[in-house]
Amino acid sequence: MAQNKKQRGLIPSAFHTIGDVAGTFLFNYLFDDPERKGVMRFSFPARTFHWTVVILVMLLGLTGLILFVPGWGVASVAGWTRIVHRICVYISAVVLVIYFITYRQSCLAYLKEAFTWTKADLGWVRAAVDYYLGGDESKMPPQGHINPGQKIWELITVVCGALFIITGAVMTFAKGAVAPGVFQWCVFTHDIAFIVGGAMLIVHIVLGTLHPRMSESLRSMITGKISVHYAKSHYGKWYDKIAEKQS
Ligand code: HEM
Repeated sequence: MAQNKKQRGLIPSAFHTIGDVAGTFLFNYLFDDPERKGVMRFSFPARTFHWTVVILVMLLGLTGLILFVPGWGVASVAGWTRIVHRICVYISAVVLVIYFITYRQSCLAYLKEAFTWTKADLGWVRAAVDYYLGGDESKMPPQGHINPGQKIWELITVVCGALFIITGAVMTFAKGAVAPGVFQWCVFTHDIAFIVGGAMLIVHIVLGTLHPRMSESLRSMITGKISVHYAKSHYGKWYDKIAEKQS
């Protein structure tokens, strides 16, 4: 190995090592040995739906941002941003309806989960700051399939999604038919949903991809699986239920 490094020269061998480390890290971080024992967390349809929504939301966000930020309008030459924005809205509507019809039970469970809050959830929220800053993990109450932080994100997706759809529909189809004040309120609400949803999306992405406490998160959204250890420590109540069913 030392011999190899010498033969390659210092700079190429440094890049080789960095490449090796980065490649191994990325592979281990993102993918998984299919044979490895683990717990299925996200089904294939759920993952496909998630990443389809990600692409659509990114396009909607980007084209919306160009329309929203003063001065960025120059980027929307010939109104292409508006066209892409609307096409993405129609595709999102079709995807949502098809997913809802096909996986009705899961969608209803998602809605129920987002709107069901208990005292125990508030306890988790209070303890979460310390936990995410590296505090003692054993102080966190055991969780179900998602924790209340993720539940807040689910709630935001539902509320902001509904606001986008309602206000967007008025702005697209009822311009001139509604009073100017109503129209202005729709624009304002659309923008607020964008700011709140966008800010929470950044938190969601950082937690899901970078936070050391959520080390198996991104991989679970790619491969579907998490390790038994991760399931026990992060979603203890959910893991117990699964283990009970399997025994
Ligand atoms: C680049 C953008 C995104 C990345 C990298 C990302 C990543 C992830 C990851 C890693 C998880 C699994 C979390 C876990 O349970 O450990 C997840 C879950 C989820 N994502 Fe995303 N996501 C993105 C965008 C979005 C968008 C745009 C939406 C919806 C508007 C969304 C909605 C959800 C929901 C509802 C869940 C399940 C609840 C949760 O675990 O938080 N995600 N995402």
